[in-house]
Amino acid sequence: MEFLGSLNDRLAGFYRSSYKDATGETRWLATTQFQPTDARRAFPCFDEPALKATFNITIVHLSNMTSLSNMPIISASNLKADDTWVADYFGSTVRMSTYLLAFIVSDFKGNGTEKGIEFSVWSREAVLDTTAYALDVGPKILQFYEGFFNVKYPLPKTDMVAIPDFSAGAMENWGLITYRETALLYDKRYSSASNKQRVATVISHELAHQWFGNLVTPKWWDDLWLNEGFASYVEYLGVAAVHSDWMMDEQFVLDDLQDVMELDCLKTSHPISLPVRHPDEINEIFDRISYGKGASIIRMMKYFLGEANFRKGLMNYLNAKKFDNAVQDDLWKHLTDVQKGNNPIDVKSVMDSWTLQTGYPVVTIIRDYSTETATVEQTRFLLERGGEGGISSVSQWEIPFTYTDSLNPNWKPETKLWLHKTNGTIKNLPGPKHWIVGNVQEVGYYRVNYDEHNWQLLVQQFLDDHEKIHTINRAQIIDDSLDLARAGLLNYHLALNITLYLKKENNYLPWKAAMHGFSFIDSMICRSAIYGKWKKYLIEQLKPMYDKLGWEGSPDENILITYTRGSTLGWMCLYGYEDCVQKAQEKFNAWKQNPENVEIISPNLRSLVFCTAVKHGGEEAWEFLWERYKAAQIASEKDKFMYALACAKEPWLLTRYLNWSLSSDSGIRRQDGSYVFRSVGAKLYGRDLTFNYIRDKWNVIFERYGKSFFAISGLLKSVTSSLNTQFELRQLKDFYKQNKNNLGTAKRAFEQSVENAEANVRWMETNYAKLVSWLENTNP
Ligand code: BES
Ligand code: ZN
Repeated sequence: MEFLGSLNDRLAGFYRSSYKDATGETRWLATTQFQPTDARRAFPCFDEPALKATFNITIVHLSNMTSLSNMPIISASNLKADDTWVADYFGSTVRMSTYLLAFIVSDFKGNGTEKGIEFSVWSREAVLDTTAYALDVGPKILQFYEGFFNVKYPLPKTDMVAIPDFSAGAMENWGLITYRETALLYDKRYSSASNKQRVATVISHELAHQWFGNLVTPKWWDDLWLNEGFASYVEYLGVAAVHSDWMMDEQFVLDDLQDVMELDCLKTSHPISLPVRHPDEINEIFDRISYGKGASIIRMMKYFLGEANFRKGLMNYLNAKKFDNAVQDDLWKHLTDVQKGNNPIDVKSVMDSWTLQTGYPVVTIIRDYSTETATVEQTRFLLERGGEGGISSVSQWEIPFTYTDSLNPNWKPETKLWLHKTNGTIKNLPGPKHWIVGNVQEVGYYRVNYDEHNWQLLVQQFLDDHEKIHTINRAQIIDDSLDLARAGLLNYHLALNITLYLKKENNYLPWKAAMHGFSFIDSMICRSAIYGKWKKYLIEQLKPMYDKLGWEGSPDENILITYTRGSTLGWMCLYGYEDCVQKAQEKFNAWKQNPENVEIISPNLRSLVFCTAVKHGGEEAWEFLWERYKAAQIASEKDKFMYALACAKEPWLLTRYLNWSLSSDSGIRRQDGSYVFRSVGAKLYGRDLTFNYIRDKWNVIFERYGKSFFAISGLLKSVTSSLNTQFELRQLKDFYKQNKNNLGTAKRAFEQSVENAEANVRWMETNYAKLVSWLENTNP
């Protein structure tokens, strides 16, 4: 079949990318991104995941370049007498789906190891030395998975390549994994600890797909969550295998579970598993529900099955289905069959309740202190109850419920009570002096509410000796209570009272949960009269940590301490705490005199220092950073400048920045443009302006980013998430109505924005006054 495909600029299908070499000359490369439905842009094929085949690929290219594909090259021949063109013949692939094919023609250089299988990392030559970290952890994580799944990696090689223009973060093409540069390259002079964790995490995620997704593939995209949810869970195990001190279990709870619960409490959320057909619908499910909720319910399942059964079931599933396709029921079957004893858990009936229904429950524990029992009741947790839609909130989940109490605290998450789509009771509780806590280590995908007295006991425990409660559960209680209050299910004063203890909290996790909850409140009130008092309260809470951690870390400190410092300084500078702003400016000025000196500002503080400097430094600081942005060679350094440039207060600087982000001629790549919108739109000074801008230029923006779900949904969310007046809500609804039939992959994200704004308006009506009265009574 003859077919002419074009090498396009749209970061999808077979597309081109470029960079400037050391002499400033533009170098081109050709690469692919096929998932989910773009292999057909490169060559004619039956482009569906269930239709597996073996592929023989030949690439003809200029002889001064290198080609790569899923398999190694088995032979090559020159095509012309003058040697300008070569043909590379790749070995036949294993049986696989089209979306996992890949090929690249570039002048990249690679670094390789040989450890059982061949493993190489490729990049443009100027940054080749920053591939070392990936080359160190990659093979180790691959080996970890071989052991974990007990299935050998079936290909003779793995290549990982850093592509200068890349739509998503990374793509798991079998044997030829592609990344955006920030997700693969690590430079210890410029990259922060969180950049490093991101690299490890993305590598771990894509390597997990080599089994989960590549070896066993969902029959159709409606089971995408199996791929993404699974990889999003085991990526933490893979990273933990190489960085045991990064507390990956703890980080999971915040970055995935609590993160997605905030989205999944909307009526416009959707079930994990749902029918999809049009490519726009397929792209649309690469969302937090497939990733974060998928990962969270898989983690929950690991705990109720036990680690041994979980792993054994997975192994059996992978072995039974390798080089083939599967649906979620296949996995449930293997996980059920593997259990010994008379009472195996029917995994399908449990998991169907989590994958086929939208949302999740709040479990309310009402204690009877005279009989030392409690009733345990489940209802759907909704940010907004009632209203249109008449969403039912009857009990409908199979909940593996865990709890403990202060008399005999036991923080092992063992299921103590199954709520089979029903409510339940618990007995033999301690007396009225002792609290109980449900959802131990937050292994379950649900929130917990209590009767008032139990809440008071918890508030008191936090104030007296918070360490008696497990770190994860401190973060859980903070997150649950603030969100329960936000949804009108808990007295706001009580939730805020829990946060009073924070000045004594040394741990990252509870702080992060709190700051996340606070950033919502912040976004609601940052233009209101009470904001001064609110800032004062937070500065008071943060100050002990600020004094304790200071500005300089030690090289061998735990990564969570580094994160805590970064976030503490970030908030203190944002709130204009004088010492913080001053120090940031001092550092900035010292660096400005000598910008090649990387020692002056630690990579962990660079974003914060640059942002503070731009905010307080106006045009001059902005121009300086913009020049640095354009000159920067290291992608993670570029990202930090890009973030900081959004911190300006001057509307004209921000508008110009948005203009520039829409054209690659400015030096901002297409892959990064939506990040500029996200950053400007999320800031106090940029928000209104960005909201106006996107409504004014929606067609241009949609044309540029509409096909990339990550880009367009992230942009919408950040620009609209703090709209909270009737007037703004109306504007948002009008905007939605005007574009309703042409929203592509952004349809659901748009609906979620509207619902969120409605909830914000309600929040202002019902909770603003409560916050004011609390601040007035509490503030020092
Ligand atoms: N399979 C996805 C890449 C992808 C995303 C393809 C959207 C098509 C549409 C890949 O495995 C992935 O999930 N990448 C993540 C990184 C990961 C660590 C969550 C990404 O790109 O952000
Ligand atoms: Zn993935």
